[in-house]
Amino acid sequence: MRLHSHLEKNMPLMAVAVLITVSIGGLVEIVPLYTIESTIEEVDGVRPYSPLELVGRNIYIREGCYTCHSQMVRPFRDEVERYGHYSIAAESMYDHPFQWGSKRTGPDLARVGGKYSNDWHVAHLINPQALVPDSVMPQYPFLMESELTLPNIAGHLEANIAVGVPYSEEMVAEAAADLAAQADPTADHSGLLERYPGAAVGNIDGDAARLTEMDALVAYLQILGQMVDFSELTAEDLRQ
Ligand code: HEC
Repeated sequence: MRLHSHLEKNMPLMAVAVLITVSIGGLVEIVPLYTIESTIEEVDGVRPYSPLELVGRNIYIREGCYTCHSQMVRPFRDEVERYGHYSIAAESMYDHPFQWGSKRTGPDLARVGGKYSNDWHVAHLINPQALVPDSVMPQYPFLMESELTLPNIAGHLEANIAVGVPYSEEMVAEAAADLAAQADPTADHSGLLERYPGAAVGNIDGDAARLTEMDALVAYLQILGQMVDFSELTAEDLRQ
């Protein structure tokens, strides 16, 4: 007791004691991380975004969708029951920057891919209130009017390579063609689907004649949460 009251009254000694205590806490948390190779689980299915999805992701960021929508299902029962399997690190390892978000005015979107049809997304983005009358989500009808002009999509992929996204040489070489083909219903999508399995292809926004920002954004929304097949994963796979 006497020692403790002495410690509490002596500022420098207290500071040293606090420092030692906090360092022990820090070491206990940090040191074990050095013994594992990666904090990202190795799971099958996670792939880089297709060029059109990547552009859609840029539009998502440009329009500030992340200010109302998170993309991270937390490992809590209520969230898992509402949205599906909790998010794992591997799912956002090719996201630069990640879109976990910090605010949910609208629902989490980490698993929205495949939940609705393309038509639903298009109608909802043009006028959310037409589908959900009380929605406070803004309207984005202009996405239908903005044609995609992206002179250097290959460069965009290369920029992602620079930060660690494993786009292959073939993906870079085919980038412009893939960008044009994904939302073109008359195009041959076999190469694209081999490079980017599960990508939404065809007439995405309902306007086959033009490649619009709507095509890109919906292609992006439709792949969210679709890459990892959680029914095939065991708890063991997710443990490090
Ligand atoms: C001001 C906040 C706000 C912004 C900004 C916003 N949303 Fe929403 N969003 C909502 C709300 C609220 C809902 C729930 C009601 C509804 O479905 O409209 C919603 C619903 C959605 C849904 C349906 C989710 C589900 O599981 O039912 C999608 C998809 C979506 N938003 C996409 C977007 C995209 C893409 C953007 C950016 C272009 C965006 N939102 C911008 C508030 C917002």
